[in-house]
Amino acid sequence: MEIEAVKKIYNGYSSVYEALFKRFFYPRIKHAIQSMNIQPGEWVLDVGIGTGLSLNVFPGHCKIVGIDLSREMLKKAQEKVRILGLHNVQLFEMDAMNLNFADDSFDKVFISHVVSVVPDPYRVMNEVKRVCKKGGRIVIVNHFRSSNKLIGNLEKFITPLSKRMGWRSDLAMDEFIAKSDIRVEKKFKLKKIDFWHLIFATNEK
Ligand SMILES: C[S@@+](CC[C@H](N)C(=O)[O-])C[C@H]1O[C@@H](n2cnc3c(N)ncnc32)[C@H](O)[C@@H]1O
Repeated sequence: MEIEAVKKIYNGYSSVYEALFKRFFYPRIKHAIQSMNIQPGEWVLDVGIGTGLSLNVFPGHCKIVGIDLSREMLKKAQEKVRILGLHNVQLFEMDAMNLNFADDSFDKVFISHVVSVVPDPYRVMNEVKRVCKKGGRIVIVNHFRSSNKLIGNLEKFITPLSKRMGWRSDLAMDEFIAKSDIRVEKKFKLKKIDFWHLIFATNEK
């Protein structure tokens, strides 16, 4: 997927995103962030923060930096910051494949429903590892291709269609983890039958 196409799709989604996806995405976002063990004063980067579904889950004692490619999605997040009266959040329009932050800027990085949306997930992961401190925590919530052969093949088959909707359905988790070169502490689904995985990893650089 080309970056301009992705931007256009998510600008278009912005006004209906939460009506369409919140009920599916929010429970995992909540669980993942509440399990991140975020300490007072820590800096947390939310990559592809979208409309800011995560914003009311992060503790008030940390510093949150959210970035997104889509200005329209960010406007929704900014509105949440205002309504929730959050003073510990900064939002930037930025490409996750080219993060405008110094090395080792963040203690923790959260990436939900983004690695199968970006044109190159490994460029994103390289950037995430660069800006996250060594030993820092990287948490990913995402759909990955099913290990069930039938469903996995179907997900591969529908990839051209899913791409037109703004994400690829054929990203395989094992390949993603291996190529990202992260040390995974745990990976699990919230429910026994679920499309989405939570991955908790340590940044070994
Ligand atoms: C499916 S939404 C997920 C939003 C949010 N993280 C959530 O879980 O609800 C994907 C988001 O990634 C953003 N995105 C896509 N490509 C990006 C890129 N290269 N850099 C930054 N954000 C990107 C989109 O604009 C969109 O807001």
